Amino acid sequence: MVICEAKDYKDLSRKAANIISAQVIMKPDAVLGLATGSSPEGMYAQLVEWYNKGDVDFSRIRTVNLDEYRGLAKENEQSYDYFMHKHFFDKVNIDVNNTNLPNGLAEDPEEECRRYDALIESLGGVDLQLLGMGHNGHIGFNEPGDFFDKGTHCVDLQPSTIEANKRFFESEDDVPKQAYTMGIGTIMKAKKILVIVSGADKAEILKKALYGPVTPKVPASILQMHPDVTVIADKAALSAGE
Ligand code: F6R
Repeated sequence: MVICEAKDYKDLSRKAANIISAQVIMKPDAVLGLATGSSPEGMYAQLVEWYNKGDVDFSRIRTVNLDEYRGLAKENEQSYDYFMHKHFFDKVNIDVNNTNLPNGLAEDPEEECRRYDALIESLGGVDLQLLGMGHNGHIGFNEPGDFFDKGTHCVDLQPSTIEANKRFFESEDDVPKQAYTMGIGTIMKAKKILVIVSGADKAEILKKALYGPVTPKVPASILQMHPDVTVIADKAALSAGE
């Protein structure tokens, strides 16, 4: 595992964008596993800037997102599909037909999970998976629990996650209570993983994830077992030490 300290959020975003750009240059039809949330916003903005300068070409890239709320339509401003279009897909030359997220409105959740795993498989797997980390150590929507989930599944969101996400909704009641997420097994199958973590409020959980025991109580701790992980964290997020 490579742990790279960034000066601040801007530096973190540039470093992460550099890694994504390098992947796209080295393999123009790479499968990128993408994440939403506040952590990658700066990175997407940086990629858009470099795209506008002509430095990076996304025309052949394929993408699969980590997760999506269950019950939200693509057009809903809080859906992850909407987020991806707003911050990235609509601003670069990516072919929208090559972008994929779980369908929040799928009628049969089990069938949707099977479809998503089969889709990832049919693309040849994920070349580079981007991850953020929740305050409870979740990755995707894999919440702390008693075991590591394997494939894509539908989860009940924990109160702490609903609380953290309510800032995006009118009220806590509007926050969906379930979400689709790639499983830990799906994430661990990615050839490379890039994790970005920012802010002092994530320092304690980041320390546990990087240096604590590997346990489903801290889902991100499983990343210690992956052969090719790069963590980019700012000074504040690394402030709890080892
Ligand atoms: C988003 C995702 C989540 C976030 C995590 C951190 O697609 O999978 O696991 O990465 O909740 O969110 P932020 O970056 O908003 O702190």
